[in-house]
Amino acid sequence: MANVKFYAGESFPLEMHKVRIIQKLNLVSVEDRLKAIKEAGNNTFLLQNRDVFMDMLTDSGVNAMSDRQLASMMEADDSYAGSETFCRLENSVKNFFGTKYFLPAHQGRACESILSKIFVKDGSVVPMNYHFTTAKAHITINGGKVEEIIIDEGLKIKSSHPFKGNIDIGKLNAVIKNYGASNVAYVRMEAGTNLVGGQPFSLENLEETSKVCRAAKIPLVLDASLLADNLYFNKLREEACKNMTLAQITRRFADASDIIYFSARKLGFGRGGGICTNSEEYFLKIREMIPLYEGFLTYGGMSVREMEAIAVGLSETLDEDMISQGPIFIDYMVRELDRKGVPVITPAGGLGCHVDAKAFLDHIPQSQYPAGALGSAYFIASGIRGMERGTLSEQRDENGAETFSNMELLRLALPRRVFTLSQVNYAIDRMLWLYENRKLVEGLRFVEEPKILRFFFGRLDPVSDWQNKLVAKFRADFGDSL
Ligand code: F0G
Repeated sequence: MANVKFYAGESFPLEMHKVRIIQKLNLVSVEDRLKAIKEAGNNTFLLQNRDVFMDMLTDSGVNAMSDRQLASMMEADDSYAGSETFCRLENSVKNFFGTKYFLPAHQGRACESILSKIFVKDGSVVPMNYHFTTAKAHITINGGKVEEIIIDEGLKIKSSHPFKGNIDIGKLNAVIKNYGASNVAYVRMEAGTNLVGGQPFSLENLEETSKVCRAAKIPLVLDASLLADNLYFNKLREEACKNMTLAQITRRFADASDIIYFSARKLGFGRGGGICTNSEEYFLKIREMIPLYEGFLTYGGMSVREMEAIAVGLSETLDEDMISQGPIFIDYMVRELDRKGVPVITPAGGLGCHVDAKAFLDHIPQSQYPAGALGSAYFIASGIRGMERGTLSEQRDENGAETFSNMELLRLALPRRVFTLSQVNYAIDRMLWLYENRKLVEGLRFVEEPKILRFFFGRLDPVSDWQNKLVAKFRADFGDSL
């Protein structure tokens, strides 16, 4: 990692890249922001980008590409079958993970769908450090259930544990004993544990998990979508990794896993996905599904241009300057908010800054979706869209009762190399203002609630006219400012 000290003492994130293509942004007035969020049913997924100033919804498919990635897209070899582009991607993936087989898919959830169809049956259980929305939905659709076996520290908002995404080996052994190894479809380990604040696991923990799985003959599946962030933390925080290269750490991850899948909308900074393994048996099973659901074996639903970009993006993931930019910016944002009393998940993880809506809006019950309300209020205050990662992102149980999530988070993703430090400072400033005025914010209720993955397109109303009061306070405090 670039070691740059500052003469004036205090240090701040320094970009190790320069910006050569820009996109103009639009910051509309607070009144227009209110109108936009109302039209979006208070669901930030339903906002139009033209009304959004900083899009912090996700880092999926929106990270900035490098000049080398863009250049590679011009060389794409367009062919349904056997393209040179696919050979380049296949080589790049095999070189990255060191695995024998690679199968392409159109994005991460397609891999989840295929793996669930193959391994999950009625009554199966899939233990994992923590669920991800689409991973869980595919497992349950196929008759299985998820058991979360993350270490207790992983569910604490404030912590100094360096690897909050670790699996609790005791809980893993207990689940295997309880259900019987033959009912465990696979164990899923998610790099950069998404829903609990982008928290990493240690190499040591993955290798211990792998030992237990291999002894019980249960496949270990690594979700490597957020591997770049995880690698950064292994290198930074894990003694055993300090003298290893990123390539060496990645190989150890791959060696410990039986199947690896990833969303290339995150890993590799493109748009696509894929599954890797060393096992011929798994490869043959998975291969059957690719032409059926994704596309031919040499594109799997991806465009050749994206495949070229991913091939280059994966090799760039082994560059410490490239993978450190996100975590360093996130760390800055988390520290600044934490220092000023705003409740955020600590230590800073990958993906983005996660604001604890349960503490921020402790007057709103979980049944009124505090994280959703915070997302709506923050958009009104700033024109920034985040993503609700709380009860709204859960699904109701089989009796229709709410499943209250462990954490109520507003996730402010930091797409890599996209925002400048002054934009991050703006995001911090508006969050501080909202924190001062938090008592004005009230809850939301559904007016349209889809059955599956409801957070994507459900619509909600505020429980009162609190949003108008928030706009009036903004005007009183900021005058004619945008
Ligand atoms: N696994 C993880 C850890 C993810 O973060 C995602 C996507 C997926 C799988 C699914 O991949 O989107 O390519 O189908 N996360 C996005 C997000 C949607 O915004 O966090 P996908």
